[in-house]
Amino acid sequence: MENTKYVLVTGGAGFIGSHTCVELIESGYMPVIIDNLSNSKIESLARLKKITGVDIPFYQEDVRNREALDMILDKYPCVAAIHFAGYKAVGESVAKPIEYYQNNLGCTLTLCEALTAHNVKRVVFSSSATVYREGDEVPLKEEYELGCTNPYGWTKYMSEQMFRDLCVADKEWSAVLLRYFNPIGAHKSGIIGEEPNGIPNNLMPYVAKVANGELKELRVFGNDYDTVDGTGVRDYIHVVDLAKAHVLAIGYACENTGAVAINVGTGRGYSVLEVVAAFEKATGQAVPYAIVDRRPGDLAEVVASPEKASALLGFKAQYGIDDMCEDAWRFEHNLNK
Ligand code: NAD
Ligand code: UD1
Repeated sequence: MENTKYVLVTGGAGFIGSHTCVELIESGYMPVIIDNLSNSKIESLARLKKITGVDIPFYQEDVRNREALDMILDKYPCVAAIHFAGYKAVGESVAKPIEYYQNNLGCTLTLCEALTAHNVKRVVFSSSATVYREGDEVPLKEEYELGCTNPYGWTKYMSEQMFRDLCVADKEWSAVLLRYFNPIGAHKSGIIGEEPNGIPNNLMPYVAKVANGELKELRVFGNDYDTVDGTGVRDYIHVVDLAKAHVLAIGYACENTGAVAINVGTGRGYSVLEVVAAFEKATGQAVPYAIVDRRPGDLAEVVASPEKASALLGFKAQYGIDDMCEDAWRFEHNLNK
């Protein structure tokens, strides 16, 4: 107990948080989860136990609840925190901006206050490639100027800034701002994965539901972009690779102070049609599709420069697009068993 390296994980019952809890345990840390289950299910905990054999301490509380955070941090002397909790749907953020600012910024503010009060001054934060401006040359580099096009993106931009300011004001603070590109796939066990509510907005969960017959066909949003085959190109990263990047980031935060933004991607882009072909090949399932109009707000190509993650964290993605498709499919298939 005394030597246990606890890590507070906000939003740990969600998609990326649950995969990160597995990797934390494998690396000798003990996650302590706070999640209000607004976008995840209590089953996450049983699934995590099935994979890891560990009863992870779990609190069904809102991160904006300061008393709850104080109670948890009093009980578990954490070496660091990973802050996943927040809303993440871009389209919804345009329709409900205040809810997004309230939840995402409220969580960051309350967490920073509570961590400071408990002298836990190392944090890894879930930022996003969405903080980069439209029209910048790819691969996107961390030093580029930032600019967002939707409230969700602004909450990431503003949270990053809060951590930067905190690190200027208090030299003991360390904040690693991880800018995720497009996380997909699932744990190899097929026990945890991405489970969006309702009809998925994102490509991979949509493709998986077309493959299992739940949805009729994929709508490919535009084939007239200036890309390899005219369809949108993204930097897809396996969620287990992304989870491992968090463990490396905790190590970095323990050794360094100050704020640093780091892309987490592979540096390799795939078009929508390349993803469809890879999925069909990896799973043997047909994915019927139709080309439709562009989706408003979409960009032609979003690809990370992965060099800073390699230099500072020693991070390199291990899994390729075939693993991402195979693992996403295994999870989808298990869900419907
Ligand atoms: P997710 O919705 O699966 O996980 C977020 C978790 O936070 C959920 O379990 C939810 O219940 C919880 N939560 C939300 N508000 C909360 C609150 N006020 N108090 C306590 N818990 C709360 O999402 P995810 O895909 O795992 O994303 C995790 C983080 O990474 C988010 O901050 C998201 O914005 C960011 N991110 C995700 C992606 C992606 O493609 N999935 C890309 C870039 C950044
Ligand atoms: C979206 C978010 C981004 C978030 C990311 C990962 C927007 C504008 N951006 O990125 O902030 O970090 O998800 O959660 O929503 N596509 C289709 N048909 C579909 C779905 C998608 O053709 O049914 C295409 C899109 O046009 C795009 C690619 O597939 O070219 C990937 O789309 P998606 O998975 O939604 O991710 P992003 O739009 O890159």
